[in-house]
Amino acid sequence: MEKFIIEGGKPLKGEIRVSGSKNATLPILAATLLTDGVCEIRNIPKLRDTLTMCKLLRSLGKTVEIGPNKVVISGSTNNHVADYKLVSTMRGSFCVLGPLLAKLGKAKVSMPGGCVIGVRPIDLHMKGIMALGVKADFDAGYVIATASKLKGAQMYLGGTFGSSVLATANVMMAASLAHGETIIESAACEPEIEDLGNFLSGMGAKIEGHGTPRIVINGVRKLNGISYKMGSDRIEAGTFLILAAAAKTDILVKDAHYNHLLALVDKLQSIGVDVQKDGADIRVRCKKTLKPGNIVTHPHPGFPTDLQAQYMALMAITPGVSIITDRVFPDRFMHIAELNRMGAQIRRDAGVAIVEGIKQLYGAPVMASDLRASAALVIAGLVAKGKTEIYRIYHLDRGYEDLDGKLTGIGAKVYREKE
Ligand code: UD1
Repeated sequence: MEKFIIEGGKPLKGEIRVSGSKNATLPILAATLLTDGVCEIRNIPKLRDTLTMCKLLRSLGKTVEIGPNKVVISGSTNNHVADYKLVSTMRGSFCVLGPLLAKLGKAKVSMPGGCVIGVRPIDLHMKGIMALGVKADFDAGYVIATASKLKGAQMYLGGTFGSSVLATANVMMAASLAHGETIIESAACEPEIEDLGNFLSGMGAKIEGHGTPRIVINGVRKLNGISYKMGSDRIEAGTFLILAAAAKTDILVKDAHYNHLLALVDKLQSIGVDVQKDGADIRVRCKKTLKPGNIVTHPHPGFPTDLQAQYMALMAITPGVSIITDRVFPDRFMHIAELNRMGAQIRRDAGVAIVEGIKQLYGAPVMASDLRASAALVIAGLVAKGKTEIYRIYHLDRGYEDLDGKLTGIGAKVYREKE
């Protein structure tokens, strides 16, 4: 295993480029199971999670050629069993369920494991596919599902914590090859769902409303191959915006979708950060001490849960009190203890984190607990006084492409060592 060593307090400046979207890539790779045609997907981020998904596709019968930031997928799906070893390491792989059912009429998919960011149920996935006529059972940690014929249906997919991104994705993919019309009410509106809808349309699916809470799909008999370019990763972009604010500097975040980040941009502007759209990029300027600001995470277009930890790192060095509530994953607070090891003053009270911002964090050895918590520790380490060692950075490699290289490019002193 590797660790990051960060020498904090180096002046950061310049341009940093955002890679292709991880969370859009995973369901789009799964969607290639729906066709026998050749799919070429460009601007794919080179990450542990995208490689895991490629391995899973191979295990299901596909031929996957991996090039630099590009994959070409061909061949036919001929195996309906998605193995525990591949699905348990990454929740995104559960979205092969819908395509396997649509293509083969059966699927045996390992249930995704529990996760450090909290309980992650699959009831909405099951509700959605069963509405399409699927019969499903659970056996020895697997979902075993069959359908002689998928039939379109109207369904409500809202849950206790709002809509579900991957449940919406699973149903969209299954419904694309179902017989008749499917209407998903309370669908997830995340940009990744919009991307998946565009990809499916490009394959010949009849789909409307993706990116809104009501998606209408008219099933077709066959989907074709496609050549497609992934859009950029809004969470990586948001992480860089927050980093610029924390480091009190000017950074041009290249290839960043301003419109995908409005909740974060609005919050940063309200606490005193200058954030401007600059063509296809976003310019962040931050010189002064910021005001504290509360956030509550919600499904898109609300403040994303995937930026909650990074924003908490910013509030930790913003004098005053801010309150952070996560309504999507109410237990997603593993980073509090690690930020506190660096001198932060954060306490958890039931479902909220109360941050008493201080002027300066201090370098310390800390442990990465999950992907976005790790990003928060990187931000904290870059602005702290002294040396920070972040252990278990394989979490970062799951979702941030060449993060150390990109940060070095804007002046950071960060390198890897074996643990
Ligand atoms: C996706 C993202 C993840 C992000 C999350 C929320 C991928 C690969 N991952 O995960 O980075 O943090 O969206 O934006 O795209 N829920 C249920 N029942 C279900 C499914 C979900 O109650 O069947 C709940 C969850 O526990 C959570 C909320 O719904 O409280 C949202 O989860 P969901 O949108 O499904 O997250 P994922 O799609 O797994």
